[in-house]
Amino acid sequence: MLDFHAHILPGADHGSDGLQCSLRQLTLAEQAGIDVIVATPHFYPQTDDYEHFLRKRASARRELEEHYTGSIRILTGAEVHMCVGLDHLEGLEELCIPGTRVMLCELPFRGLSFGLTDTFERLMDERGILPVLAHVDRYDPTQIENLFGLGLLGQLNAEPLSRRFHRRRYLPWIDRGQIVALGSDIHGTALGYSQYIKAVDFLGDRAAAIESRVRQLLKDAL
Ligand SMILES: [Fe+2]
Repeated sequence: MLDFHAHILPGADHGSDGLQCSLRQLTLAEQAGIDVIVATPHFYPQTDDYEHFLRKRASARRELEEHYTGSIRILTGAEVHMCVGLDHLEGLEELCIPGTRVMLCELPFRGLSFGLTDTFERLMDERGILPVLAHVDRYDPTQIENLFGLGLLGQLNAEPLSRRFHRRRYLPWIDRGQIVALGSDIHGTALGYSQYIKAVDFLGDRAAAIESRVRQLLKDAL
């Protein structure tokens, strides 16, 4: 299985405070049957220095590579906090999953702000980026459906799918093909992959459908 959204690079963000935490996260992932993880450290364009982010991510990735001996394939991406004008950022491609134009985008906590839909449109039409919206379960469903209408795709976190309450509300998005990936969004090791396993159990054939969509989406990276 492929985990599309995970904070596992040592010290790259608050998801892992160091190498030991990252190695433990990877062990838990392996035990859960994960074979590919997209490492998605947070990038906040309004406050983070872009070059500094890239350097920090690369050195975290190197440190992990030097010490990890397991079988999981790690792809380096980012969870990019959306802001108006992001489409003007030079070198935006570095934030995509290598070999693809796929970028994991996090909406602001309050959802869509004025001008953000224009930015999404320019990202797609002028920069050729394919944004995947991170944890669409967290936002106002009407706003998410508007973005799906623009051609954006969505990623669901395992956590809401692991709970009985309200989880069926996400099934129509999955059945319409708007959900292209599942993510653990793992931070630390406390919860590990228990929610991911429960989510996959609940989804059954739908989990397999999502898995095949994400592998198709990332075929040039795999
Ligand atoms: Fe995240």
